[in-house]
Amino acid sequence: MADKEEPSRLFGLCAFTFVPNNELTENLITELANSIVKYGGQVFQRKRDGSLPLSQVTHIISNTIDFPEYTEATAMMIPVVRSKWISASLAKGKQVQIRPFTPDPRMIFSDVMLSCGDIPPTDKEAIIGATMAMGGMDSENVTKLTTHICALTMDHPKCQLSLLKKTGCKIVLPHWFDDCFKLGKRIDEGPYLLPNPEILRVRPEDNIEPPSSAHLEGATSARPDYLPAPPDTESRPTLTVFNGKKIMLSADLAIRDRLKGIILDLITSGGGELTGNVDECDWFVCQYRDGSEYIRASHLGKSVGNLSWLFYLITHNAWTSPLRRLLHYPIPRDGIPGFKDLRITVSNYGGEARIYLENLITAIGATYTKTMKADNTHLITARDNSEKCEAARDWNINMVNHLWIEESYAKCEMQSMTTGKYVHFPPRTNLGEVIGQTFFDESRLQALYYPGGPEKPTAASIRKRKALEMTDENSFAGGPAEGVVIGRQAHKDFDVMKDTDVEYAEKTTEAFGVPAPQKRRANQAQFTTPARARHVRTGKENETPSTVSSSGRSAKDKALGRLSDLASDIALYEKEKKRGLKDGHGPWGGKRAADFIDREHLNRRSVSSPTAAEENDQESKLEKRPAKKARQSLPDIETRVILTGFKRWVNDKNKEDADRKKLRELGIAVVLDGQPCDYLVAPQLVRTVKFLRNLSKGALVLSSTWIEDCLDTKQVPNPEDYILKDKENEKKFGLKLENSVRKARENKGKLLWNIPIYCTSSIKNGTDSYQAIAEANGALFMVYAARSGITIKPTKPEEDEGGPEPVYLLSTATPEEKKLWKKFEDMARRGNMEPRVVASDWLLDVVMKQEVSFDKKYLVTNFFS
Ligand SMILES: *[C@@H]1O[C@H](CO)[C@@H](O)[C@H](O)[C@H]1NC(C)=O
Ligand SMILES: *[C@@H]1O[C@H](CO)[C@@H](O)[C@H](O)[C@H]1NC(C)=O
Ligand SMILES: *[C@@H]1O[C@H](CO)[C@@H](O)[C@H](O)[C@H]1NC(C)=O
Ligand SMILES: *[C@@H]1O[C@H](CO)[C@@H](O)[C@H](O)[C@H]1NC(C)=O
Repeated sequence: MADKEEPSRLFGLCAFTFVPNNELTENLITELANSIVKYGGQVFQRKRDGSLPLSQVTHIISNTIDFPEYTEATAMMIPVVRSKWISASLAKGKQVQIRPFTPDPRMIFSDVMLSCGDIPPTDKEAIIGATMAMGGMDSENVTKLTTHICALTMDHPKCQLSLLKKTGCKIVLPHWFDDCFKLGKRIDEGPYLLPNPEILRVRPEDNIEPPSSAHLEGATSARPDYLPAPPDTESRPTLTVFNGKKIMLSADLAIRDRLKGIILDLITSGGGELTGNVDECDWFVCQYRDGSEYIRASHLGKSVGNLSWLFYLITHNAWTSPLRRLLHYPIPRDGIPGFKDLRITVSNYGGEARIYLENLITAIGATYTKTMKADNTHLITARDNSEKCEAARDWNINMVNHLWIEESYAKCEMQSMTTGKYVHFPPRTNLGEVIGQTFFDESRLQALYYPGGPEKPTAASIRKRKALEMTDENSFAGGPAEGVVIGRQAHKDFDVMKDTDVEYAEKTTEAFGVPAPQKRRANQAQFTTPARARHVRTGKENETPSTVSSSGRSAKDKALGRLSDLASDIALYEKEKKRGLKDGHGPWGGKRAADFIDREHLNRRSVSSPTAAEENDQESKLEKRPAKKARQSLPDIETRVILTGFKRWVNDKNKEDADRKKLRELGIAVVLDGQPCDYLVAPQLVRTVKFLRNLSKGALVLSSTWIEDCLDTKQVPNPEDYILKDKENEKKFGLKLENSVRKARENKGKLLWNIPIYCTSSIKNGTDSYQAIAEANGALFMVYAARSGITIKPTKPEEDEGGPEPVYLLSTATPEEKKLWKKFEDMARRGNMEPRVVASDWLLDVVMKQEVSFDKKYLVTNFFS
């Protein structure tokens, strides 16, 4: 079988989009795009609203993670790769591995393919967990692709094999991983290399028996737990995620003292502490869903997660609920009932998605098999067409999509395979697109693993329950940015008020112990992403790195370059099948072929791929909660409203809860951002993100007296009688709300269509609100910082009939921002555009009026003087 794909098909079925920066210039992009097209791929431009066409692409080429869609892309498991990936693939004549090309600086192990030698199983789990959290991969056996073997001595057969075969992979003590983990940086392996590692030699006085490896043998008593950490290297930036938190590491983790020490350091230096007392802790970290401590912690409403979760928090320095990603929660010791004897294989999922499914299959208690054989019970596939699917039909193997296993795991109960959604395969969609979005059903976990409750509910458990109820009704808050009121920057002629939704945000935040997310993007679809943790099993071939596919893993399967290099395999399969029939083996010929195809395929990959798997481990915040559960007694929701600036509830959460309930009983749901609504309700004209965004959509604005009247009369008066009138503020802003709404409807959200609006990254109150407002009106919003390499694409002078097009920079007047002005203006002029450095009021006024206009008074130089 040919080892190389036909060159013209190298990028067949792949669709790319680019994120330019100073390294990846427009010229370079043009060049790369030409190559891509030449080799069968497609290139998509940004959408008209300036965002990346995530739903269309299979790869994002970017040399930075500093772009708004990054989180969402990784959540969708769309690989984000450096531009060098293209040249490397071209050079090799095939798509090379994705993971080593991640632009994410936190993925310090992105090119590490680890195999563990003689280290105790619990340590192994922890080391693999940490490695994967930082972009690395793991394989059971040593292969050509293995870059590191983690061992305490050279005695393990893997080490011997590696020496014998001169694989050139590095044999390191676990301490290397520990120290990298501690530092958040990758340090040189030199001092940690076996045999005779320097770190064991230089401090012979330390508790460890030096230096002969024989003394480390057995590794239980002589586990080098007591080694000093490397003295000098600068450590990772201080973590903030642990600030003020008490963390308890369960005994079932049994991690080495040394690693524990490092975790302890990271926690305490970030202002947290370790505790041995469940009642006292905020977060409880354990391996299994059992034991009195697990139960107690759960009853008390603590956050309960496993090591992968903890590593995730450390790597990303951001809080996330352990319930949001299936692989962040402790595993059921004996799996989920009914899965024990299942043998499950996977098709049409690549990269991260495949690794995730493998781990999920293992966690649920079933057996994952790389190849498909007649004794497989299930095939999980993203699409209804692949050679495995055909064989599955031949052999009567159950075929489902990943939702089946995700939901079974989340609900802790095997879901019926006849449920429509598990066997639905939209023809032109790869379901990989929606993987990793399932999260736990907490009530099921409770019913099964920690039934009952604490004797006395604690404040934390009540808060948590409330928060859950609330988020059940409403999708997760769209982030605090949306609730922030944008006030006048210098002139105090408009009263700044706090949006009541800030209350929601705070409430949720507090209840989940989430630090208020700082970065949120308007309109961002939020997904959860699986955290992969467990090592990846290799199948029968010792020489293959398992789940590695040669193509990038992608949202859409038209993507799977893998399929393109399967063309010949499929032909072979057809041939085999025919031959099988002819030879009298009946349809079973297909089985051999399918096995063969998988093996062949993997071998080929191992030749091409320098290292392990694909995309990085980035994850996004999940904002969606499960579909709401209708309470039987409640009427259908007739009206959905968004409230902004509603004063009645400020500082009175009890009242708010009661009122929301009352409204709900009247068929009115107060929805949070991100959900469609019928009306925007406000006491007056306010310049909140919500108000402006909804106004931009042409939402009808009602006066909050409508809500008051509903509450007071327990009736629902006709909303159209309550259209907001606010003469005073209309005058202040020089507009008529009625006109604004009408224009908004005409503008259809395109008021600022394609107008570039930059915003200084250090602008007061952050860029998010402005971004949300600008993007709601179709602007191209970009953050501008000193180091940002953003350039304006020059327009040709002759195109500018009416003089140069304006380009805006929103700025306040701090010295830091002032420094940027000149740079911005120069850049704009070079691009034949007219720079306008303005106060954000310009944007707010324009949006409020739904009319693009400009006045010199908005220029920062005038506005702040
Ligand atoms: C965390 O749990 C998941 C399953 O929920 C498992 O795959 C993973 O290996 C665990 N991580 C660690 C480090 O034990
Ligand atoms: C920033 O937000 C605070 C409170 O939300 C507000 O009082 C202040 O006026 C805002 N500042 C600017 C420059 O918008
Ligand atoms: C690893 O190698 C051993 C011996 O070489 C083999 O028996 C085993 O099946 C391999 N394991 C995997 C998961 O490939
Ligand atoms: C109102 O704004 C919120 C976000 O601020 C958005 O989720 C919602 O869809 C908007 N509603 C309408 C009718 O545009």
